[in-house]
Amino acid sequence: MTSRDRVAVLHGVNLDQLGRRDPGHYGALTLDQLERRISEFAAGLGLRVQFFQTNHEGEFVEYLHRASELADALILNPGAWTHYSWAIRDALEIAKLPSVEVHLSDVHAREEWRQLSVIRELCVATVAGKGPDGYREALERVREALQSPPREDSAA
Ligand code: DQA
Repeated sequence: MTSRDRVAVLHGVNLDQLGRRDPGHYGALTLDQLERRISEFAAGLGLRVQFFQTNHEGEFVEYLHRASELADALILNPGAWTHYSWAIRDALEIAKLPSVEVHLSDVHAREEWRQLSVIRELCVATVAGKGPDGYREALERVREALQSPPREDSAA
């Protein structure tokens, strides 16, 4: 079996502004620093990561359209799009890849409008409120999902 170890980590709207956003919710790391941390976690777990960030919803959607050619699994922090972008939800459904949703902040303990995630039901797990370490947990969940046989391989 060819190794399935390619993980795309997608950061959505305003995540490029980490370091300038409320450190009480998002910590002090910049996106570059966060991505370096995620790369270290991934190397420790034997996974290969690639990163994508955009502030444009259509670009996020188009990345998801290509995702199955680029990666074996996804980790997504779509930022505020999480809470209302049905277009991103539909594109994630098209990608058909094992996916984990991550939020740096504890969205469950914040404003009511952050309680809805339109992607949650398509993800094998949601990790929120654990800061950068949440990405390690997400990578672990992705690795578990990649180690279980893909759906089309399983016996009927
Ligand atoms: C976020 C939480 C979202 O509610 C918010 O809009 C973000 C970041 C997080 O990582 O905690 O931009 O996804």
